Amino acid sequence: MKQRILVWDLPTRLFHWTLALSFAGAYLTAESERWRDIHVLLGYTMLGLIGFRLVWGIAGTRYARFAEFVRGPSAVTRYLRSLAGPQPEHYVGHNPAGAAFIVLLLLLGIASGASGWMVFEGIGGEWLEEVHEFFSNAMLAAVAVHILGVIASSRLHGENLALAMITGRKQGHAGQAIPGNRPLAALLLLAGLLGFWGWSVYDGGASFDTAQASREVQEDDDD
Ligand code: HEM
Repeated sequence: MKQRILVWDLPTRLFHWTLALSFAGAYLTAESERWRDIHVLLGYTMLGLIGFRLVWGIAGTRYARFAEFVRGPSAVTRYLRSLAGPQPEHYVGHNPAGAAFIVLLLLLGIASGASGWMVFEGIGGEWLEEVHEFFSNAMLAAVAVHILGVIASSRLHGENLALAMITGRKQGHAGQAIPGNRPLAALLLLAGLLGFWGWSVYDGGASFDTAQASREVQEDDDD
């Protein structure tokens, strides 16, 4: 018998919503010189979060593990084909198509964050700024498809997937549930985030200024 079971542990949910907010914030502040420190801070936050997620993809609970949800192109095609049939495949964790997009989002997050870091540190010239912009826009497009996929999949399977990413719970059989929320790992992630932001505000501002200064020197040299 189906019941509400725990599927997404707390660190996965915390990772998801802080990543979504960091990306949104970094994207919105990208064009403004005034908001540059916030933009950089959120970009580094994204990189740190993805670093955490790579570890959690190995050490996390069942449905958070890459081995559980990363599947090959044939599984993606089979899943997509099944959607047109009378019995669409249903997954308690990520479905294969959603999972492929999750991998893409993580890769684009790394590419966008790393290229942004290089631009900010004055490594590379204007071409790298173009590359950074390209990856960031590609990520925005991937996020749009991700959200559309979440809406489509929620309608198709009659379940609210966005709510499940908040509560951690979905319909399933008791044996499919994860054993617990892993609150200690979530606390460590939260402490890491707050620690990094605190350090950036009280002390790290100085290191941002140094990077900014080196960038300006390089721009002067380029002129
Ligand atoms: C309103 C906006 C968003 C909603 C409603 C949303 C919803 C969701 C849902 C429901 C899932 C789980 C999918 C499943 O059941 O298989 C998910 C996973 C994921 N989403 Fe989003 N998402 C949003 C924005 C974003 C943004 C902006 C990003 C990236 C910048 C993002 C990145 C991811 C990633 C990486 C995962 C995998 C989670 C994990 O396993 O760690 N999402 N999202």
